[in-house]
Amino acid sequence: MASVANQPLDFYSSPYLAEHYDLICAQEGSFFEDIEVFYAELMKIRALKHAKAQDPDALTIIDAGTGTGRALYSLTQRVLQSGLNLSKMKLLGFDPSQDMVDRAGQTRDLKGAEHVEWICASAVDLNKIVSSRGLQGKVDLIMFADGGFLHLTTPEEGREFLCGLKTSLTPGVGRACVSITSRESVDDLHYYDTGAPGKDVVEYASQQYPTFIYRNTLTGMEEAGTVGVSSFQFEVWKVHEDGRRELVESQATRLAGRWWTQNEMKDLIKDVPGIQLIEVAAPDHRQTFYTIGV
Ligand SMILES: C[S@@+](CC[C@H](N)C(=O)[O-])C[C@H]1O[C@@H](n2cnc3c(N)ncnc32)[C@H](O)[C@@H]1O
Repeated sequence: MASVANQPLDFYSSPYLAEHYDLICAQEGSFFEDIEVFYAELMKIRALKHAKAQDPDALTIIDAGTGTGRALYSLTQRVLQSGLNLSKMKLLGFDPSQDMVDRAGQTRDLKGAEHVEWICASAVDLNKIVSSRGLQGKVDLIMFADGGFLHLTTPEEGREFLCGLKTSLTPGVGRACVSITSRESVDDLHYYDTGAPGKDVVEYASQQYPTFIYRNTLTGMEEAGTVGVSSFQFEVWKVHEDGRRELVESQATRLAGRWWTQNEMKDLIKDVPGIQLIEVAAPDHRQTFYTIGV
């Protein structure tokens, strides 16, 4: 089990799975009140920039573990709603799944921004991502939404990402906002259908591939200390006009996550020189947000 974190996660590893993730998210409306948290943080950052005679509209925002770009896209829509525009914004979303970032690029229209990039990379490479773009000390907001940080399953991986914050964030202004999903709230999610007591069958109709439906069955759950690994059988079915179903693809996938406790997070942040924990907020039972500055 010690090597679990080093095995690739394949829960997000096909165009079908990328769409499946978006269909799950569309069902989890209440889970995604996170955008108001990120938006409030962005408004504080704008105020800090203003106070330091920096242009508050010129914002560089990174979405770590962006998946299909949900948080970055929704945040920009929230900004637009408030009457601000994106024309001086540099936006970068990254995720280790090429399929997820491909879908982000295909489905998230961020044309109004000054610069947009979707790249395939891990959060442990934040330092490299930022340095290779000349963004050291210039990043205003880094989001790590919807428990993406849980996929960093060892303290070494967590620390590597946090060290990247030191390189990235604008001193005295920049903030990172990391969401940690609570263990209890996972039962509210609809990641899988049959195979779990108390879970109804959930089938998702594809919009990208009309006549296809997705089913995801939980096949196993293991725990080693605070690291949990779930296994699934993900199926893509074609529904013919006469109602007959034909299996198009069946793939075994895994999802590994560490249930970081509040004390573990606080200790991890405290141990990285040059970064500070600014706030811990748990607006509801679903997730806790850690705001970090330099
Ligand atoms: C639950 S999804 C969240 C996606 C997106 N942030 C959102 O809010 O919709 C978790 C994401 O974390 C990504 N992930 C897994 N390992 C990662 C790593 N080492 N670094 C960054 N992201 C990672 C997965 O590929 C997946 O897209």
